[in-house]
Amino acid sequence: MTTVVERWNIHPEHRWLRGERPQTPIVYDEEQKVWNVYGHPEIFEMLGDHERFSSETTRLLPVEVDPDLVAGDMTQMDPPQHRKFRQLVSKAFTPRAVAKLEPRVHEITAELMREIEGRDRIELVADLAYTLPVIVIAELLGVPAQDRDLFKGWAENIIESFSGFSFLDGSEEGRQNLDNAADVVRPLFDYLAEHLDDRRANPRDDLLTHLACAEADGERLTKTEAVNVANIILVTGHITTTMLLGNTLLCLDANPDQAKRVRADRSLVPGAIEEALRVLPPSTVLTRATKEEVRIGGTTIPADQLLLLWLGAGNRDPRRFPDPAAYLPDRDPNPHFGFGRGIHFCVGAGLTRLEGEVALNALLDQFPVLETDPDDPPTFVPTSDMIGIKSLPLRTR
Ligand code: HEM
Repeated sequence: MTTVVERWNIHPEHRWLRGERPQTPIVYDEEQKVWNVYGHPEIFEMLGDHERFSSETTRLLPVEVDPDLVAGDMTQMDPPQHRKFRQLVSKAFTPRAVAKLEPRVHEITAELMREIEGRDRIELVADLAYTLPVIVIAELLGVPAQDRDLFKGWAENIIESFSGFSFLDGSEEGRQNLDNAADVVRPLFDYLAEHLDDRRANPRDDLLTHLACAEADGERLTKTEAVNVANIILVTGHITTTMLLGNTLLCLDANPDQAKRVRADRSLVPGAIEEALRVLPPSTVLTRATKEEVRIGGTTIPADQLLLLWLGAGNRDPRRFPDPAAYLPDRDPNPHFGFGRGIHFCVGAGLTRLEGEVALNALLDQFPVLETDPDDPPTFVPTSDMIGIKSLPLRTR
């Protein structure tokens, strides 16, 4: 049977998506000077141990990253600094806070579904998978949801420009490409800075006001830090959810027997989404740095080395997942790394799961058929750091 990866030839360079595994779970790349980590137990250990595996990785890159780009970026922090920044936002995403958002998620979904009622084709991203999460996150943050086309343009430019270079390329050209990519981020930063200024003067009940007035270490966040936190919430808070919903539809489309089961038994919907996160994780790679010499997976890695943790490879490790290539909505247990693990576990996982479940149920309720069209295939975001659709035309009857 053709898998979803083969059907759309997703990331040919990610050979593990096609069942190929390296001889050892950790492989050193002499040229790039990084350690590629492919095994589930090894990634599990690394993500769970921030004492030995640090998230502050920019210090090891051959290019100098503009400090303004990473100030306040909690994904690049270790404790105790990490804890302070994470606390600032995690309150907005607790199970109770997410449960409070549920009626609004249903309401937006219902509105969007009404607009596509009776259609025999939809384009999933424009019609639902982008629009739903971007409205939710914009409202939560407190930026106008009507500006969503602006966010989309900026997010696409950022992904395109960051996919054109590697942080591991220390050549003059690599530096230039990084500078160019950094310029692409500016319009979004300026937009958020303006809204933060406004919120300092005119506080409201939203996350931006919270960030504008928040303190870490007894001091107010600098403007750059507050902008970066808002930026991460706004951008990662919707593009990854768009990808997840699209990837779930692609998995169901490539596995019609499983799709039939999920349609008939909606208790399988959460599992269908988790399994899509395993098979096609939107975020494909995390970086870590060794703080000391470590012995792991039969390999000794010296201190101050850069590690690339390939989540899609760990998610298909046959030592952890029986029949790893199969898409099984009732796979249990399913300890995938789609949302990471440990102290950096995705803040937005609960919100994403809620949006995914509401959206998928609404699609299954409204359309008797949800099928890809070989003559009008999906397109994918160009960077190999992500697996996700850019557009997904679907036949609906
Ligand atoms: C399908 C959707 C999503 C995926 C696949 C995803 C994936 C991830 C992953 C893998 C990490 C771990 C990063 C690391 O360990 O270095 C992470 C962290 C994070 N995610 Fe998500 N995410 C998603 C949705 C969201 C949403 C909706 C939000 C916000 C509303 C969000 C905000 C964050 C933040 C702030 C962090 C950093 C947490 C920390 O460093 O402590 N994510 N996400």
